[in-house]
Amino acid sequence: MKHVDLKDIRQGKKYADKTVTVCGWVRTSRDSKNVAFAELNDGSELAHTQIVFEKSLFDDGVLAPMLALGAALSVTGKVVANTKGDCNEILASTAELLGGSDSTYPLQKKRHTMEFLRTIPHLRVRTNTFNAVFRVRSELSYAIHEFFHKNGYYYVHSPIITGSDCEGAGEVFKVTTVGFDPTVKTEEEYNKKDFFGRGAGLTVSGQLEGEVMATALGKIYTFGPTFRAENSNTPRHAAEFWQVEPEVAFADIDDIIVIATDMIKSIISHLLEKCAPELEFFDARFENGLIDKLKHVVGSDFARIDYTDAIEVLKKSGRTFVYPVEWGLDLQTEHERYLTDEYFKKPVFVVNYPRKIKSFYMKQNPDGKTVAATDLLVPGVGEIIGCSEREADHGKLLGEIQSRGMKLSDYANYLDLRKFGSVPHSGFGLGLERMLMYVTGMSNIRDVVEFSRTKDDLK
Ligand code: 4AD
Ligand code: MG
Repeated sequence: MKHVDLKDIRQGKKYADKTVTVCGWVRTSRDSKNVAFAELNDGSELAHTQIVFEKSLFDDGVLAPMLALGAALSVTGKVVANTKGDCNEILASTAELLGGSDSTYPLQKKRHTMEFLRTIPHLRVRTNTFNAVFRVRSELSYAIHEFFHKNGYYYVHSPIITGSDCEGAGEVFKVTTVGFDPTVKTEEEYNKKDFFGRGAGLTVSGQLEGEVMATALGKIYTFGPTFRAENSNTPRHAAEFWQVEPEVAFADIDDIIVIATDMIKSIISHLLEKCAPELEFFDARFENGLIDKLKHVVGSDFARIDYTDAIEVLKKSGRTFVYPVEWGLDLQTEHERYLTDEYFKKPVFVVNYPRKIKSFYMKQNPDGKTVAATDLLVPGVGEIIGCSEREADHGKLLGEIQSRGMKLSDYANYLDLRKFGSVPHSGFGLGLERMLMYVTGMSNIRDVVEFSRTKDDLK
């Protein structure tokens, strides 16, 4: 259909006083004696454009359905600029109802609870909030690609179906075509009957394949959906989420920390420039001071603390935490939040975690107790990046796989990388939704995914 995006009209002064055709959905409407107004939005921007209907030009029976909330219209008319030169009004000369709506349209009120909106994932994107969230999500994804391409990385596609559990946390969703079969007695037998003749699952991370690609292409990143059957029903965990995972050959833990910092700053700068109206909206509605926070992140250094020192900070905090604080135990959300929100008040890399609580592939430090791994924690959200230098020594990696009782045959190719031209290499995983929560101030992961998949919830 021939029409102009509302964003182009508002910004392009060339449209003032010109006749255009626009399309969109009615967000609000008002009917008075001689004129009626409809606020139209076509998704091209956060702002709405006011359509003015001179009642003398339209029959009542034609006009009334065009004022229904949620109706889709095509309108032709003259563009009117306001005193600031913004072209945010169109005087309709003709209009067509593309798709009607009625009083059962669920978005009748101005404001709805987030809980209610989650029950209508197919319509909530027509609210200002979700319209803004998903525009930022799109721009954020673009900014990630832009950062890596500008810096010489190759974008590689890691498989969704995999035979190994990268994180070793046993949170893999099974992929199977075999239904219930009472004759099958063992798991082995079951797997043999299955599609691949072996156990398979949805990937929890593209890292292991990313390492394969990085040890030939040098600098790569994967960016795609990952899946975890985590039983935790929290505002930060989704069963399906997107991860961007760079993997870099000839890079140690300090190098990768610099890369992660540059990436975060680069994508935030990009959003500050390209998503200003959306960020202003989130600042006003969801997190006061959001824009200042983001500018501060771009302009200042991130903190860095050893895990061992972080434990001391937490012990000396004078706080009573629900979960114990002890060297060797993982940091819980409440601990992460204390470090970021209260102690550092900015993003912090916690470095050198105990080996026992981290994944098998991480480089073992000379102390034998810790690994060259770091999590980037940010205020309000907690962990957004999991990062490490990878163990490049064949013997050490083999020992770790065996002592964790992992199936050696699943990791044979991975071990080969340490046999043939092994090099120091490092990488990280940034959770796209967690990053989106951080930059929008949205406090629940369910509200930054188009169609969220969490425990007991799939709509
Ligand atoms: O810390 P994680 O488990 O690290 C890895 O998967 C590594 N293989 C990454 C790598 O080195 N290539 O996960 C990385 C990030 C987390 O920091 C978090 O942002 C996000 O992925 N994440 C989740 N996001 C939403 N829901 C979940 N259930 C998540 N689990 C992890
Ligand atoms: Mg992690």
